[in-house]
Amino acid sequence: MCGIIGYIGSKRALPIVIEGLKRLEYRGYDSIGVLVYDQDKKEVYLEKQPGRIQEFVKTAQLDKEGSLAIGHTRWATHGGVTKVNAHPHWDCAKKIFVVHNGIIENFQVIKNSLVEKGHKFRSETDTEVIPHLIEEFLKQGLEYKEAVRQSLKIVKGSFALLIFNSDYPQLLVGARFSGPLILGVGDNEFIFASDPTPISLITKNVIYLDDGEVVFVDKGSYTIESFLGHEVAAKKGVIDFEIKEADKGDFPDFMIKEIFEEPLALENTLRGRLILQEGRTKLGGLEMIEERLRQIEKVVMVACGTASYAALVGEYFFEEYAEITTEVDLASEFRYRKPIINDKTLVVAVSQSGETADTLAAVKEAKEKGALTLGIVNVVGSTIARTVDAGIYSHAGSEFAVASTKAFTTQIADLVLLMIFLARERKMSLVAGKEILGELLELPEKMRSILLQSDKIRILAEKYSAYKNFLYLGRKYNFPVALEGALKLKEVSYIHAEACPAGEMKHGPIALIDENFPSLVLAPKDSVYEKTISNVQEIKARKGKVIAVTTIGNQELERLVDDVIYIPQTLEMLTPLLSVIPLHLFAYYLAKKLGRDVDRPRNLAKSVTVE
Ligand code: AGP
Repeated sequence: MCGIIGYIGSKRALPIVIEGLKRLEYRGYDSIGVLVYDQDKKEVYLEKQPGRIQEFVKTAQLDKEGSLAIGHTRWATHGGVTKVNAHPHWDCAKKIFVVHNGIIENFQVIKNSLVEKGHKFRSETDTEVIPHLIEEFLKQGLEYKEAVRQSLKIVKGSFALLIFNSDYPQLLVGARFSGPLILGVGDNEFIFASDPTPISLITKNVIYLDDGEVVFVDKGSYTIESFLGHEVAAKKGVIDFEIKEADKGDFPDFMIKEIFEEPLALENTLRGRLILQEGRTKLGGLEMIEERLRQIEKVVMVACGTASYAALVGEYFFEEYAEITTEVDLASEFRYRKPIINDKTLVVAVSQSGETADTLAAVKEAKEKGALTLGIVNVVGSTIARTVDAGIYSHAGSEFAVASTKAFTTQIADLVLLMIFLARERKMSLVAGKEILGELLELPEKMRSILLQSDKIRILAEKYSAYKNFLYLGRKYNFPVALEGALKLKEVSYIHAEACPAGEMKHGPIALIDENFPSLVLAPKDSVYEKTISNVQEIKARKGKVIAVTTIGNQELERLVDDVIYIPQTLEMLTPLLSVIPLHLFAYYLAKKLGRDVDRPRNLAKSVTVE
C-alpha cells in the first residue's frame, strides 16, 4: 500500500507535496520520491530514495520552483527497497513519469512485449511498465490522452496512478481501478491524493473517483472520463478533516494519543444515535434500507485484522441479543469460499480506512450474490463507504497510527448500535434495550478510569519487556479481545504473541507454557469467569507467568497470578470496550521500551489496498 499525491495550480507545488507525503506516510514508508516541474525553466527535478520522509527532506532540494509536482511514499510489493525501485518511474525518453499505488497483475507480459520492442527497464517494479506503455502508444501515433486511455485498458490489477508528461506541462492525469484516489478542487488549483488527509492543505471540496475513471486536469480545468473515453459526472463532496487531527499534540506518538482518545471517540460515535427512553437507536444511514433489514435472516461480517476482531465481538452479541444467525469471515478468505448468501443476508463490512482491498472485494462479491451490504467505516467518502448499500460511520476521528486502537472500540460500538436497531425490531424488550444503551453511555468514563492506570501498565510492560513470546487468552466476548491484544503487541513490538480461546489452550497451546512464556488472561467477572480461572491454574501449574485483567473488587486473583490489572464492571457484552484498553497500553509501552517506531512499524502500512 502506498501513498500518492499530485498538485497542479498557482502555488509552489513542492512544499505542498512534501507536507502531503508526511500525512500519507502511514500508508507506506519504505521509500520516498518526488518530481516537480519548473514551467519557466522547462526543467524536471526528480528525487527519490529509500527511507523515511524525515531523512528525505534533509537532502532533497526543497527550494525547487514549479507549480506541478507528484510524490510517492512506498510500501514495497514488487522489487526490493532500493532507490531504483522507488517512485516515480519513467519511460525511455524520460518524459513520462508515474507514481502508483497498487499491483499491476499482468506487468510481466506487458514488460516482455515492451522489451521486445526495444524499451529499456531500470527497476524490478510492476509500475514501470506504465510510462513505457504510454510511450509505445505515442510511438504508434496515438494522441497523448488516447495513449493514456489505451494503456489503462491494458493494465490489469489494482491501481491508483498519477501521470505527468513533460511535453504537456499543463496537464496532470489521475486514474484509479481498485485503488483509492481522490481529487481536491481549490481556487485555480487541484490536488490528487490517496486519501483526504492531504487534500485539506488546499481545499475541503473534493471529487470522489470510482474504479475505471481517469481525470485530466488541464490548463485550470478538469474532465472525468471512463477508460473508454466517455465523460463521467463529477461526484462532489466536502471533507471534514481538521488540520489539528494530523498533530500529536502533547503526546509523543499518534498511537498513545489515539489510545487516550478512545473515550472521546466512543462519545462521538454514540452522539445523537441513542433513543434512550425507547431503548432504540437512530441510525440515519439505514433509513433507506429499514424494510430490507426487517427481512434479514442471517448476518455475515467481513473484515481484516483488528476490524475482524471487532466483528467477532459483534458475532457474539448479535446472536445472543438479536437472535440472528451471524458469522464472521476474514475478507481475504470470504471470496474464495462458496459463501451461502442471498437477498435475505446482511453483509456487514467493517473497515477503519474503507479502502482495504480484501474487504472491498468481499463487498463486491456479496453484492453480486444479491446480499444487502452495510459498511461500518471510519473514513468518510472512502471506497467501501461509497460501495455498500448503506452505512454507519465510526466517528473515531482520523487514525494515523498504523496500529488501530480507537477504531477498534468505535467499531464495536457501531455494531452494538446496529444490533439494537435490529433486535428491537425483533424480540428485544424495551428494558433490555434501555439497559444496554444506558450502560453504553457509562463506558467513556469507565475507559478514562482505566487510562488513569497508564503508568502502572507502563511499569508492567517494562517488567515483561525481555520476554520473546506471549500467549493471550480469553473466552466468549473476550476471545476476540485476546486476538486484538496479541496483534497489537506483534505489530508494534515485533515480539511473537498468539491468542487462543482459553478453553482451547489444553488442546495444544499449553505445550508452549513454561517460565519463559508469559500469558495475558482476560478474566473479568462474567459468565465464563470460573472456567477461565481453571485455565489460569493450568498455566500456573506449569510455572507460567500470568498477567490477568479482571473486574475491580475481585481480589481472589491477587494470590493466584503474577500481576493484575483491574477494569470497571460493565455488561458482559460491553466488556471488550474496557478490557482492550490495558492491552493497547501494554503493547504501546512494551514497544516503546524496546525502542520501536510505534507509529510506523516495520513492514506494515495503515491501509492495505492490495490483495
Ligand atoms: C490493525 O492494527 C492493523 N493495522 C490491521 O490489522 C488493520 O486492522 C487491517 O488492515 C484492516 O484495516 P481496515 O480496518 O482499514 O480495513
